[in-house]
Amino acid sequence: MADTTPFYITTAISYPNGRPHIGHAYEAIAADVIARFQRLQGRRVRFQTGTDEHGLKMARKAEEQGRTPADLADEMSSYFQEMCDALNVSYDRFIRTSEAPHHRASQAIWQAMENAGDLYLDRYEGWYSVRDEAYYDESELVEGGAGEKLSPQGTPVEWTVEESWFFRLSKYQDQLLELLKTPGFLEPASRRNEMIAFAEQGLRDLSVSRTSFDWGVKVPGSDGHVMYVWVDALTNYLTGLGYPDDMGEFWPASLHLIGKDIVRFHTIYWPAFLMSANLPVPQKVFGHGFLLNRGQKESKSLGNVTDPLELAETFGVDALRYFLMREVAFGQDGSYSPEAIVLRANAELANSFGNLAQRTLSMISKNMDGKLETFEQADADMTLLGAVNDLCANHLPLCFGNLSFSVGIEEWMRAVHACNQYVDEQAPWGLKKTDPDRMKAVLQTLFMALRDLAIAIQPVVPEKATALLDQLGIPESERTYAALSDDGWFHRLVASGFTVAPPTPLFPRLELPAGEA
Ligand code: MF3
Repeated sequence: MADTTPFYITTAISYPNGRPHIGHAYEAIAADVIARFQRLQGRRVRFQTGTDEHGLKMARKAEEQGRTPADLADEMSSYFQEMCDALNVSYDRFIRTSEAPHHRASQAIWQAMENAGDLYLDRYEGWYSVRDEAYYDESELVEGGAGEKLSPQGTPVEWTVEESWFFRLSKYQDQLLELLKTPGFLEPASRRNEMIAFAEQGLRDLSVSRTSFDWGVKVPGSDGHVMYVWVDALTNYLTGLGYPDDMGEFWPASLHLIGKDIVRFHTIYWPAFLMSANLPVPQKVFGHGFLLNRGQKESKSLGNVTDPLELAETFGVDALRYFLMREVAFGQDGSYSPEAIVLRANAELANSFGNLAQRTLSMISKNMDGKLETFEQADADMTLLGAVNDLCANHLPLCFGNLSFSVGIEEWMRAVHACNQYVDEQAPWGLKKTDPDRMKAVLQTLFMALRDLAIAIQPVVPEKATALLDQLGIPESERTYAALSDDGWFHRLVASGFTVAPPTPLFPRLELPAGEA
């Protein structure tokens, strides 16, 4: 039975203290692939992304630049939204935490936690990393090269003493451990073990307000306090659904997609806030890995920071999307380089898939005047179509449903290779004179296979798959995964009198830009 429950997916919201980098693009693209996949599975999907604009990190960056945090956020947030648009990220809502409805929602969840008796005023004395916007226990710190104290993420920490509101995190330890142990709540499994170990050590109450700056959401009824940025940030997932008003059908979230470095906030703090406010916890949190540039982390000092939009412009949006989903085992760290993108895109998209479409459609348009007709299928045709359909309708969706994108795409490539092998064996070009009916049967078999391949890969390469489905004359309402099990489509297409036009190539062969070789 098809799953028809609503699906709510979110990315982490990004600090707009600088321009987006490839890691932001990676997460947005992965979330988009999931959102598109679920829509094509027939589910009602809501997809939210946005920017996380408060906190000390933003305040300090703005000060450095001699501008207000609001001004910095306005400018940088627009680049994040532009990036999403340029990469074809089909979000329903791009949220900014500086928006008034978000302040209202954050104050409402605060009030709910306070009503539950979970907030109390005290004094915070301890370490804080502005870069991570995180408090650390002395025992978590590591030593840097010059003997200085660093956070476990390797970022500087500063000693902080402030009056602060505290949240009774300790009260939720048992409930959180139970949640963390629930199969499927936190993936991949390696992250789960880390979090269980962290919670088992004992959870200390969390400082949830700041008084030393004012760039944040005001704590209701407590002058001089703004909320700790993560309290308001996490609440964005509710704001976008209308909280504190009726949130409709999309809460609890089906999936929070985040980077592995912020799993603690999403699987310990966030569920505890929700439990306190008496709201359901998210169904799943997935912590993806990092993307490395030729095996190295990108940083300004190394001078290897890549603008994702430049990559998309150089190689094409769909080639970039395909590469990222194909190359990296989802959940693990991955590496990219221009060479690797070119290699992968040329081998799989240009040579194997694009070429198959190009050859098939140009032969149909040249040798059959673009006309499709009913034909008798030979065993080889049925074998090919059976295999391709199984890979596209069953294998790939099963993998994508489990977030195993690289494996799912490999299954799809198996179908592409099967088609190319069939072309070589059947050699349709040689049949034109000797057996034109057989030639037509072979080309139409390939036409049918192309339709399955194009439908299945839409979440990854939406623009190119759509272009191909348009060339194949497939009605928009017949492009879902369920349509892959509909046997009547080809007959209907023939009956409609559709003709194949001379094709335009889908994936041009890529070359390395000058100076990159
Ligand atoms: N801005 C945070 C970061 O980049 C992520 C916030 S995600 C949230 O690490 F939605 F949970 F707040």
